[in-house]
Amino acid sequence: MTTVAPDTDTDTDTDTALPARPIDPARFTDESTYRHTRRPVELASTLIPDAYSAPEFFALERERVFTTSWVAVGCVSDVDRPGACVVVDVAGRSIFITRNRHGVLRGFHNVCRHRATKLLDNDARDVCHRGRIRCPYHNWTYDTDGACLGTPLFEGSDIPAGQESIFDTSVAKGFDRADYGLLTVAVESWGFLLFVNLSPDPTPLATQLGDLPRRFADYRLDEWLPQRRRTYDVAANYKLVGENFMEYYHLPWVHPELNEVSKFSDHYRWQGTGMYTGMCTTPVSRNTDAGGWDGLRPLSSLGEQDADSGRFVWLFPSTALVVLPNHAFVLFSRPVGPNRTVETAVLLSHPESLEGPGAADGLEQLDKFWDLVNRQDLKIVERVQEGIENPAYRGGRMCFRFEEPLHRFQNMVIDKMVGIDRVPEGDEDTMTRMFPDP
Ligand code: FES
Ligand SMILES: [Fe+2]
Repeated sequence: MTTVAPDTDTDTDTDTALPARPIDPARFTDESTYRHTRRPVELASTLIPDAYSAPEFFALERERVFTTSWVAVGCVSDVDRPGACVVVDVAGRSIFITRNRHGVLRGFHNVCRHRATKLLDNDARDVCHRGRIRCPYHNWTYDTDGACLGTPLFEGSDIPAGQESIFDTSVAKGFDRADYGLLTVAVESWGFLLFVNLSPDPTPLATQLGDLPRRFADYRLDEWLPQRRRTYDVAANYKLVGENFMEYYHLPWVHPELNEVSKFSDHYRWQGTGMYTGMCTTPVSRNTDAGGWDGLRPLSSLGEQDADSGRFVWLFPSTALVVLPNHAFVLFSRPVGPNRTVETAVLLSHPESLEGPGAADGLEQLDKFWDLVNRQDLKIVERVQEGIENPAYRGGRMCFRFEEPLHRFQNMVIDKMVGIDRVPEGDEDTMTRMFPDP
């Protein structure tokens, strides 16, 4: 009788053999761990499966990717006046974004400088108290520039007359409120998107975005407003959500309805320099009985190509951005664990697209269509997560025709994990056919 040994390859980790799992977490920041994904796309294997399942990878990725990148966290219109605010979570840190009295965006860690109390609730929409942020614990108070304005009963000036002996402050030495302002976080915006960067000395957002502002110039994205929002709790790693968004290989099998309105042959690579992956569909697909993207009036400022295209961009590290001539759809993916992601979906439009009769029905239909498509995506992505947690799986080959964007994205993640600061290049062309005409 012949015994057939399983294909383990543990000791013959040659260039073609994928490493056995689990990989030693000490190697997650080592370039050689990723050599199979560093190959040219037509030879490359996918990112190591532990990147989607290991708590140690998740912890390192939080620091190396999410504290060193501009992360899209919400919409500019959520912070539309001095004192308005949003509370967001980046790399497990609670942060709030507001505007100071001059209307300038400001970002702060949501933590009091006294004994660290979380200052604002997650659903706060206003910093409260006439532009003052007050700590609920001992009432330390800050302004919207983060300056510490009040530390009750600490310095003596506000001690009620006659009670000086009770509140003796003579031992509070070397204290200056100026040293206890809120801890700042860099904030910038592009179009309708708000970004934060936890790095103490970040490169400008423009460097990360590359040529995207130029590509989207005619869309006047800063004028678009959120119309609908939904939240999805996803049992999968955020990168699987992104990688699914970047390829349309799965269209016929996962989205039969979408496949009726969006043909393989209408897809192009739409990729310039920048920390993003981009593709487009031209012409933009028309509705069928199963749904579609018509229903609102297209923006009038668009040139011929923009007016007939759908733009699909994954903004590194965690945001999907779809812009069509009459609406936009954004997915903010917030990683909360190696196998869990909270997704906030926002449907936006330019006010011009809401003019005229039928706009309410159009929005309703778009909201339903996107919800259908997104649920189909999440269902399959969760199945990928189940599969990828099986240690027998060591990685797979990329289907190079369709999965070049995944290769680009995974290499951006690897760069960050091993400490390389690099913005990938792209094409000069604004449209590159994935499948040459026969
Ligand atoms: S912890 Fe905020 S005032 Fe004491
Ligand atoms: Fe999909």
